[in-house]
Amino acid sequence: MTVHIGAAPGDIAETVLLPGDPYRAKWAAETFLQDAKCVNEVRGMLGFTGTYKGNPVTIHGSGMGMPSLSIYANELIRDYGAKTLIRIGSCGGMQKQVKVRDVIIAMTASSLSTPSSGIFKEFNFAPCADYGLLSAAVAAAKAKGTATHVGGIYSSDVFYDERPDLNEQMTRHGILGVEMEAAELYNLAARYGRRALAVLTVSDHLQTGEALPSEDREKSFGDMVEIALDAAFQD
Ligand code: HPA
Repeated sequence: MTVHIGAAPGDIAETVLLPGDPYRAKWAAETFLQDAKCVNEVRGMLGFTGTYKGNPVTIHGSGMGMPSLSIYANELIRDYGAKTLIRIGSCGGMQKQVKVRDVIIAMTASSLSTPSSGIFKEFNFAPCADYGLLSAAVAAAKAKGTATHVGGIYSSDVFYDERPDLNEQMTRHGILGVEMEAAELYNLAARYGRRALAVLTVSDHLQTGEALPSEDREKSFGDMVEIALDAAFQD
């Protein structure tokens, strides 16, 4: 047990998928894992452990935003020994060629600040994905025929953004999409020598204003979960 996770030692697998939404953790575990059992309910942040093709996996909510993800990722890594951490979540598209329902696999995650900014101070650390996981996810997405983009994303501290000028510069510099968690996950993986990746479904688009209809969400999110699971156990 840790401050925020009630799981017993050994109840968390070395491979952890991290959706922001705890109910999506429940849905993904019930849909894609065998013998999934609930291992955490503290503060309603649900976590489940089961197996995928015989491999132990935990799917645990991270909450929204980097401060929340940082709490869970720190405890999963430092107290439960998580070795492979894959964020699965939604993002806003920031390029014309990126369409709603497409998948983005994040090579890097830019940010204005993260919970790790206090360590880096004036240094501009570049948080990046684990290359083995990234290339395995690209192969898994290709095998599924999912429209996929690979490149940089932006981890924002705010959903209701008051800086359209900043979004413009991000788009101009090729950033594919915006979400609120990946940069801190990549920072923590670098700090503790773990593997991390973010696989994201484009749920809305900043330029076109298009949003994924709720009835399409399940299928699109399902593709993303399978890509993450296949990538985790490819090698
Ligand atoms: N901004 C930040 N996070 C998001 C968005 C967005 O537009 N869409 C999905 N997650």
